[in-house]
Amino acid sequence: MKSPNGPKAPALVQLMQWIADPFAFMNNCLERYGDCFTARVASNFRPMVFVSNPQAIQQILTGDTKQFEAPGDVNGLFRPLLGEHGLILISGDRHRRQRQLIMPPFHGERMKAYGEIISDLTEQVMSEWKMGEPFSIRHSMQAISLRVILRAVFGLNEGDRYQQMEELITSVLDVTGSPLSASMLFFPILQQDLGAWSPWGRFLRQKQQIDSLIYAEIQERREQGDTNRTDILSLLMAARDEAGAALTDVELHDELMTLLTAGHETTATAITWALYWIHKQPEVRAQLLQELDSQGEQPDNNAIFRLPYLNAVCSETLRIYPVAMLTFPRVVRSPLQMVGYDLEPGTVLVGSIYLTHQREDVYPQPKQFKPERFLERQFSPYEYIPFGGGSRRCIGMAFALFEMKVVLAKILSNFELALADNRPVKAVRRGLVSAPTNVRLVVSGKRQKTAKSLATQAL
Ligand code: HEM
Repeated sequence: MKSPNGPKAPALVQLMQWIADPFAFMNNCLERYGDCFTARVASNFRPMVFVSNPQAIQQILTGDTKQFEAPGDVNGLFRPLLGEHGLILISGDRHRRQRQLIMPPFHGERMKAYGEIISDLTEQVMSEWKMGEPFSIRHSMQAISLRVILRAVFGLNEGDRYQQMEELITSVLDVTGSPLSASMLFFPILQQDLGAWSPWGRFLRQKQQIDSLIYAEIQERREQGDTNRTDILSLLMAARDEAGAALTDVELHDELMTLLTAGHETTATAITWALYWIHKQPEVRAQLLQELDSQGEQPDNNAIFRLPYLNAVCSETLRIYPVAMLTFPRVVRSPLQMVGYDLEPGTVLVGSIYLTHQREDVYPQPKQFKPERFLERQFSPYEYIPFGGGSRRCIGMAFALFEMKVVLAKILSNFELALADNRPVKAVRRGLVSAPTNVRLVVSGKRQKTAKSLATQAL
């Protein structure tokens, strides 16, 4: 009987290391215990097997409704922010039905209809940049991605309620942004309301304000009874289960909160990283501009979505420092063998997206940003897993990639930008996901297309 080994330090020490520097923690464990190790980093100190072996990842992600399950209740860390009833926290048939309901607007033609909106919102944010003044790229990208998701979810991006929601959501996610304040999510004992100035008190008050705005919007929609709207809230309100029952207000609220949270920070972080790498490596920027310029003055968003080098840049960005470091947990249903280990029912496993993407045997020189690797070979869905897989695969995958590409194309085609300084940028914990330390860019000019690219178009 062989189960994956792991660090012997007390669980509390392991959890604190995991909160403070998740990348160092995973690298150290990999080095000592190999690509399947058991660590105690859950808030209930339950052992969790970290997996970064593609064969094992395949077994987990293809078996997560048979040999494994992907229950929502193991995602309790998200509960204070998202409530009980959103996609991330629910399980089984209910989870499957809810996914089927929410997926279509984030795919195909309905997704592509957002192209224009994404472009316009990018222009709105770019118009605030001032020549020669360094600015935080995360801040700008978050403004874009939050406005985009608010539009998709509620179909609105104007008015007082929208404005307040934008400010409050940004601020509530900033409360849990640093590793220190992220500890509040991992240690329920720190979740004490000691007044408006205490970190948890502030979190709760801001969260309550967001909740009231969402409930007010739901109430207004019920009163209006408009059946022609195509936003996600309208879709959810029209849905009925087999017994003919509609979602309750609390269920609607939790689902909206899930989409707003999962759908904007992640994408904003990914675009921030992409802009960092593009400006860190001039040859990447040059090649990207050549590809973008070949599309003419007014490139079509569908064509942008299919550009090979832009796709490779986005893929490599999500490989090198994946925003989500782990998949959601899976739980073993009945005794099984996995790459030489015996796993008991009840064992909790997570795919380490970061360690999988850092495998030297799959990605030679894994610390280097090399988009070409995605042009030279295809990686299997168990070697490359920025959006997880199986029954909980990210429902926003296509949407996030589309948004990344449209925003990047818009910015790069319009502005000459440069990194504002040479300070090293590191990947760090940001709440329950990861992000770069502050990346600042500076606008050095409006972009003129090169004579060469204009000549290519003329041919
Ligand atoms: C670059 C951006 C994004 C990344 C890297 C990302 C990554 C992930 C990952 C790794 C998972 C877990 C998958 C698993 O356990 O197998 C996930 C789940 C999820 N994502 Fe994303 N995501 C991104 C953008 C989005 C967007 C734009 C939305 C909303 C439109 C979204 C909504 C969700 C939801 C609701 C789940 C839970 C699915 C479920 O429980 O069935 N994500 N995402």
